[in-house]
Amino acid sequence: MPTGSGADDVIDRDRLRALTVRERAAFAERNPRSAAAYARAGNLFGRVPMTWMNKNAAGYPVYVDRARGARLTDIDGHEYIDFCLGDTAAMAGHSPAPVIAAVTRRLGDLGGAGTMLPTEDAAPAGAELSRRFGVPAWSFTLTATDANRWAIRLLRAVTGRPRILVNSYCYHGSVDESLIVVGADGRPRSRDGNVGAPGDVTLTSRVAEFNDLDGLARELAHGDVAAVLMEPALTNIGIVLPEPGYLAGVRALTLRHGTYLVNDETHTFSAGPGGATAAWDLAPDVVTIGKAIGGGIPVGAYGLSAELAAALLSRADLDLIDMGGVGGTLAGNPVSMAATRATLEEVLTDAAFATMIETGAAFADGVQKIIEGHALPWSVSRIGARVEYRFASPAPRTGTESAARADADLEDFLHTYLLNRGVLLTPFHNMALMCPDTTLDDVARHHEIFAAALAELLG
Ligand SMILES: Cc1ncc(COP(=O)(O)O)c(C=O)c1O
Repeated sequence: MPTGSGADDVIDRDRLRALTVRERAAFAERNPRSAAAYARAGNLFGRVPMTWMNKNAAGYPVYVDRARGARLTDIDGHEYIDFCLGDTAAMAGHSPAPVIAAVTRRLGDLGGAGTMLPTEDAAPAGAELSRRFGVPAWSFTLTATDANRWAIRLLRAVTGRPRILVNSYCYHGSVDESLIVVGADGRPRSRDGNVGAPGDVTLTSRVAEFNDLDGLARELAHGDVAAVLMEPALTNIGIVLPEPGYLAGVRALTLRHGTYLVNDETHTFSAGPGGATAAWDLAPDVVTIGKAIGGGIPVGAYGLSAELAAALLSRADLDLIDMGGVGGTLAGNPVSMAATRATLEEVLTDAAFATMIETGAAFADGVQKIIEGHALPWSVSRIGARVEYRFASPAPRTGTESAARADADLEDFLHTYLLNRGVLLTPFHNMALMCPDTTLDDVARHHEIFAAALAELLG
């Protein structure tokens, strides 16, 4: 897909191909140890511990040796400024000292990683999440995917309604119900890549475009939607920001139709200490989150409104503490709880967010200037500490519009060019995330390399 649609493609594709070949060769030259490690990994499915790790711009992944704060060093000895930050898992920075201390104390000094009994860290972590996101009753999982899965099971149970509504080109983890898009004919269809679906997703789900209140109203009018599961801004198909009035409209429509509203804050947490929910004054019934709140240690969480928690707990038939409940042996484990408490109380603090957001603004401003300098038809969007540029201008309004402006060839070139010069972006689109340790010098270094890449590409 070109950077402009069809005839207005501003990129010379032959030049792009030639530069990509050159950068991949330079990558191979620079990274023999990573290449050897990859070659030795024949007993891993796809040679990687998790198949997504094959999403890399240069042919094979760099293997991590060390990581601390906003820096990561690979096994060939190259240090990177890390703007990927584990695609948000390390938004607190790599291995922050308070998390090391809390985990060491819990795991090493006190002992007990898998106990199926509570420790005293969970309640303060829940209290901090309540203070930030406004909903008072929290439960923990190991991933954000699980938080979403469990929340929607509970919402189906409490409403007796069968369907979940999501936005087209959303991402909420591998949640079967979310793998639906609005097709070219305007009708819902299974999303490409929805492998091994347990059934027809159009029977479990409904879909509306982000920023489309009429479409949402039409779908909710069927009266069979238990919950709308959404990000307050889409973050997994580039960033798609809400238009003025859209999120208030969603809340009004869900209330009118007796449908619960779930804000998935896993990525939009970058908006501030209480995510977009607090920053944009939203009032969902449920908040789901994961990744960053554990400071790198696996954890997810869902928080329920008081009304919803009471409604669920009053239903003896739901058998929440056994078979009918949702849970997991390792969920809420002492190590995750210690890490979450430390991350929230000592690392991703209100003050840390203020710095991260300032750094994010500097990142976005600099990229915007470079793009304008070349008169490129691209746009930059930001959610606090999270920034992304997209090969479309104006910025897309919906997931479908944004999906149409993907450009894998261009991304691969830019990512490899940056990688070869010590800057790591997320392998998924062009996202850059600031952690408390990211400095303005780091941002300036990115801009210098990004500008050089575009100068070479555009001539
Ligand atoms: C908005 C959102 N929700 C949920 C998830 C799933 O998180 P996890 O991979 O930790 O299960 C993701 C992952 O990228 C996400 O972006």
